[in-house]
Order: sequence, then C-alpha cells, then structure tokens
Amino acid sequence: MDDKIKEAARILSGAKNIVGFTGAGMSAESGIPPFRGEGGIWNKYDPHSLDIEYYYRHTQESWNIIREVFYSYFNSAILKPNPGHKILAKWEKEGRLSCVITQNIDDLHGVAGNKHIHEFHGNMSRFVCSKCGEKFPATGIPLTETPPHCLKCGGLLKPDFIFFGEAIPEEAYYGSVHAAENCDAFVIIGTSGQVSPANMIPGLAKRRGAKIIEINLEPSTYTNNISDIYLQGKSGEILPQIDALMER
Ligand code: APR
Repeated sequence: MDDKIKEAARILSGAKNIVGFTGAGMSAESGIPPFRGEGGIWNKYDPHSLDIEYYYRHTQESWNIIREVFYSYFNSAILKPNPGHKILAKWEKEGRLSCVITQNIDDLHGVAGNKHIHEFHGNMSRFVCSKCGEKFPATGIPLTETPPHCLKCGGLLKPDFIFFGEAIPEEAYYGSVHAAENCDAFVIIGTSGQVSPANMIPGLAKRRGAKIIEINLEPSTYTNNISDIYLQGKSGEILPQIDALMER
C-alpha cells in the first residue's frame, strides 16, 4: 500500500491538471451515511420518495422524508469538511487541481474552500422555486411547516438537488465532460460508480489518456476496469498521506 501511495503522489506531483471526482464516501468521515452498502440511506428509506413525479403527486409525504433525511438526519448546518475535503481545496489553491466534479449535494467541497465545483446532482444548501425559479439559501427557509413556499411568488420550493427522473444541470454536465477530457490526472474518490450518467465521466478522462487514481473502502465498478492505481481505505486518511509525499 505504501508503494501505491508513493506512486500516486509521484503522478499527482507531476500533473498539470488534476480533476477530483467524488461520491458519498468522500463525506462519510464528515458523518454523512452513504447511499448504498452498510448503513446506506437507501436501506432505510425508499428512493421512490425522491422521484420527481412522486414529489409533485405526493408533495407532503415526500417533504416529510426530505426533511428527515437531508435537513435533520444529516444537517448541513452542523456538518464539517473532513481532512480529505481539505486536501482537495489545498490542491486547488496550489493550482494543481482545476476542479472537483461531485455527485454529493452536501456543499462540503465549497465549505472546505474549493471554488471550481461541478455539482452534478445539485446542492441541498439551496432551495429552488418550482414556479418562478428563484433560489434561496436553505438556512433562510424555516422547515417548521412543510412543504415550504417561495418568499417571492408563493410557489412550491424544492431542494436544489436532482431528484430521480430529473435532468443533470447543463453547466455541471458539460463542465464535467470538458474537465474530464482535459485533465492529466483524475482522482475518483468514494463512489460506487453505479449511478448514470455521472458514472460515465471517469471513462472520458481515461480515454483521453489521464492517469486514474481511485480511493475507496471497497472495489467499485472502476477498480478492475479503468483505475491505474486503486488505494483501498478511507479518503480522509489516504488523501493527507498522498499530500504529505507530494513534491513542492
Ligand atoms: N472513504 C472512501 N470511500 C468510502 C468511504 C470512505 N471513508 N466510505 C464509504 N466509501 C465508499 C463505499 O465503499 C462506496 O463504494 O463510497 C462509495 C459510496 O457509494 P454510494 O453510496 O453508491 O454513493 P455514490 O456513488 O456517491 O452514489 C451516487 O447515487 O442515489 C444517488 O444521487 C445519489 O449522488 C448519489 C448517487
């Protein structure tokens, strides 16, 4: 393992343009449970409640679950970036990392200090009005009564993340494709690779010749497929170990 971490540090030290690609495992050490596998959210809740059609037909029921899962069970106000998030922010500041493509909606890359983030599945720290499109910081909307309504037009508010059946935001999609196709090192962190179309992005980087480094607790769909280096373990521990060995 030590040799593999050294090799990852060597590749990343020499890279001109690193892109990070993150999933739920990235935030696990910040206290957010993953979606799949042990302790996964979808073992406890029915993902159907986050189907966009279901949401509009059964808004109250859907909001009860949204509030419980996203705004109390793992509450963004009390979440903090972990050492892994901090390393990605450090690499962006140093000019090594051009952006993070994240499937996470928890805003922790932003809180850690990354500026260039493609939020593939949106961001739970904002609400969006389904009628007028206005966006509001979630902290400004009390959830004592749900569903919440737009402060401007009274329309129904929805968390500004992607429900099942919704399209990926265009900027995030095209921005991610461009980033993946133009990097020389691509770091996949804490994602099982099971959700499309996000799971297609790493393959674009591979096809253009980028080195693929993967960090995950357990093998993913990428591990024996496109990953050049697979580092098994926690991202909050492995990223600082790589960083400590990088040349500066
Ligand atoms: N460090 C690294 N990897 C970890 C850690 C950790 N501390 N903890 C868990 N993992 C790994 C798990 O082994 C698993 O492979 O993170 C992965 C998380 O996978 P998923 O729960 O499937 O999450 P993700 O791939 O982000 O899911 C994609 O599915 O339901 C949707 O929209 C939701 O964005 C989400 C999408």
